[in-house]
Amino acid sequence: MSSLLVDDIGELVTNDLGGEGGPLGIRRDVALLVEDGRVAWVGPARDAPAADRRLDARGAAVLPGFVDSHAHLVFAGDRAAEFAARMAGQPYTGGGIRTTVGATRAANDDELRATVRRLRDEALRQGTTTIEIKSGYGLTVADEARSLRIAAEVSEETTFLGAHVVPAEYADRPDDYVGLVCGPMLAAAAPHARWVDVFCERGAFDADHTRAILTCGQAAGLGVRVHANQLGPGPGVRLGVELGAASVDHCTHLTDADVDALASTRVGDTSDGGGHTATVATLLPGAEFSTRSPYPDARRLLDAGVTVALATDCNPGSSYTSSMPFCVALAVREMRMTPAEAVWAATAGGARALRRDDVGVLRPGARADLVILDAPSHLHLAYRPGVPLIRQVLRNGVPQ
Ligand code: NIG
Ligand code: FE
Repeated sequence: MSSLLVDDIGELVTNDLGGEGGPLGIRRDVALLVEDGRVAWVGPARDAPAADRRLDARGAAVLPGFVDSHAHLVFAGDRAAEFAARMAGQPYTGGGIRTTVGATRAANDDELRATVRRLRDEALRQGTTTIEIKSGYGLTVADEARSLRIAAEVSEETTFLGAHVVPAEYADRPDDYVGLVCGPMLAAAAPHARWVDVFCERGAFDADHTRAILTCGQAAGLGVRVHANQLGPGPGVRLGVELGAASVDHCTHLTDADVDALASTRVGDTSDGGGHTATVATLLPGAEFSTRSPYPDARRLLDAGVTVALATDCNPGSSYTSSMPFCVALAVREMRMTPAEAVWAATAGGARALRRDDVGVLRPGARADLVILDAPSHLHLAYRPGVPLIRQVLRNGVPQ
């Protein structure tokens, strides 16, 4: 059994709320022992046990690796021209999804695999140690199945998004497409997926279609997540709550009833920081940045006691960033989150959105997925936007 001691940690963000240290469970002048890919011990540096190897954090901040709970990495081509047109005043409608579907269908497996790995590696260099990956640019039985097969090669968090949009060949018979998604497409996708997701939005899938697809995904053993209330108000958030979704994502246009529905999923007592909502609101500020749209109101959700996660939404249309530090900075500057709330949402919040308790925290038994910053405090992630502050990443205790 090989062990590694990370010591001279100036500030350790544990997200372990059982003890002291405020909302991030911050501990100072501590060391952390890794054994067999897991955190084995955390304690005062002077009590540190002996270990086979030592990693000197040189007084820097150490935090759990980021958990990016929403990304679309399986695609071909890009849509830089569409971005430029938006910056010149064009609105985002989601209509470009079909452009990427065409390019994705035309790509071979190795091309798709290379893109997934390139973006996964890019995210890893920016501190992301867990990343959810959706299908949704194939939209045929074979293309959705291969998208998920390729995603599953690099992540255990894979999501079937056959209901991203109705593809052009089904444009005048959307009911038939929903039948395909719930039938042969789900059967081919489910062995490679942990989750099912639907883009519930005007121009994509309505409430009845969304309910049908999420329900049949659940019957096939998949957990539920929803793209909800991104471009306008709609039924997605409340439907997600009704079906026990782990997360409803985007949440840009919320009514009071949506916020109340999310708050009603509260589990445990939030007053001591231990409670949370069973359905997490995952906010994706990269999408608002890249579509020049108003940001979601994180403060309203937090004040209502709703658990909030931050994720990148990395995709070639609405948010072509893999950077969680960028999302943290946007959330602090534009969404009225404190730096501590944003860092928590990008780590422990993402873990909650994926119903994981082994990542997003640094306590004995958790996976030794962690980030050493080139900075003395987590505050610098928002305070120094655009600066490469990720000095070292460990995944399963292994320096990357
Ligand atoms: O989450 N909203 C739907 N899907 C993606 C965008 C996909 C695209 O534009 O290619 C999103 O923003
Ligand atoms: Fe998305």
